[in-house]
Amino acid sequence: MHFPILSGIALASVLAPAIAHPELVDHSKVPRHEVHHLNSRSTGACKVQIEARRQATAAKRGAKARTRREARGVSDSHALSDRSIYETIPNRTCILAPETVWGPYGIDNELHRHDVRESQSGINLYLDIGLIDVETCEPLPDAWLTIWACNATGSYSGFTGIDPDTSDLLSGFEKRTDGTTDDKTFLRGISKTDSEGMTEFLTIFPGYYISRTTHIHVTVQTNVTGKDTSYNQASVQHLGQLFFEEELINSVYQLQPYKDHLSTLNRTTNAEDSLYSTANSDGYSAVVSTALLGHVIADGLVGSITIGVNRSATPAETTGGSVNVVGYLPTASPTAGAQAAAYVIDAEEGYFEKRRKL
Ligand SMILES: *[C@@H]1O[C@H](CO)[C@@H](O)[C@H](O)[C@H]1NC(C)=O
Ligand SMILES: *[C@@H]1O[C@H](CO)[C@@H](O)[C@H](O)[C@H]1NC(C)=O
Ligand SMILES: *[C@@H]1O[C@H](CO)[C@@H](O)[C@H](O)[C@H]1NC(C)=O
Ligand SMILES: *[C@@H]1O[C@H](CO)[C@@H](O)[C@H](O)[C@H]1NC(C)=O
Ligand SMILES: *[C@@H]1O[C@H](CO)[C@@H](O)[C@H](O)[C@H]1NC(C)=O
Repeated sequence: MHFPILSGIALASVLAPAIAHPELVDHSKVPRHEVHHLNSRSTGACKVQIEARRQATAAKRGAKARTRREARGVSDSHALSDRSIYETIPNRTCILAPETVWGPYGIDNELHRHDVRESQSGINLYLDIGLIDVETCEPLPDAWLTIWACNATGSYSGFTGIDPDTSDLLSGFEKRTDGTTDDKTFLRGISKTDSEGMTEFLTIFPGYYISRTTHIHVTVQTNVTGKDTSYNQASVQHLGQLFFEEELINSVYQLQPYKDHLSTLNRTTNAEDSLYSTANSDGYSAVVSTALLGHVIADGLVGSITIGVNRSATPAETTGGSVNVVGYLPTASPTAGAQAAAYVIDAEEGYFEKRRKL
């Protein structure tokens, strides 16, 4: 069983009228970077290189999936490498997602790690992210990739004081001077791409909150030379959101701990989310390709996506009302102890990325 990837083009043509302002972001203020990117898109230009790269990584992923299944105690009657998921890559899988918006939940100074789950319950999601330089069509190594997503019932770490079901997303909650509501760090992390432009996160399939479909935020900082993970160190050359197929989302949300949320908040569908339509229009697809790790969703999921990044493009702004309606980016200060603990967990999950000297 696998979930076929839907065409971004096909989806765009059946989209319902988008809701006005997901995450209360005023779109009239955002399009500068987005339009720039759209106008200079090169969908298809890197197709041959992406296909070659995909072939090269498919076998590696299959082998890795076996290791993951063993680690998770999932039985292995259908080797992942035998399945169809990574066999063909339709034209539009050349994924060059347009720039989108920060939303109110980005934080500067994430923990450097792969396993971002902490104690959050949910369906395990191994997320393989590959970066490709859209100007050279070569993999993009040494880039910092940051992800953040809400938990199974819609809460973001750092902002758990905000009720994910309320329509008053940005008001009526007690925030601290740094802009966050708490010091939690679950489902956030930053990791550097390897020589093949790849990195992997181990997270859970995200839940949802009011006005938005299911998504994972992602930023890419290129030209990274130092070890500091702050946004001050290298410009943000890609600001995006990753999405999932409607069928998969609905299947996952039939399971706990996701299911109960449906009784307090109906989810916004992909078709109803204007950021989804922006990220999946004009030939782009920001939808993660997914496969089951075992036989059923509860065994876990493996997701894969390639993101095209333009290193010469005007960097995305990290602060200010034009990209983030709260007007600033909260800055966290993870302790050395928290970072050390994250490295221990990563090592337990088999991640041995060269460690950052603290
Ligand atoms: C890919 O695009 C080319 C040119 O538009 C087209 O001829 C070809 O049939 C497409 N292939 C697939 C698999 O869609
Ligand atoms: C998500 O996070 C919130 C805030 O910490 C917590 O109350 C809730 O139980 C979490 N959801 C799950 C499924 O653990
Ligand atoms: C979800 O939508 C259905 C159908 O419109 C409605 O009956 C139900 O009350 C809604 N649930 C919530 C929690 O709003
Ligand atoms: C990053 O490096 C590339 C290649 O050397 C260069 O073209 C680009 O301008 C640099 N970008 C930034 C933001 O420094
Ligand atoms: C990358 O950005 C530069 C600078 O804005 C632009 O001239 C170029 O066309 C872009 N390249 C691609 C492939 O989009």
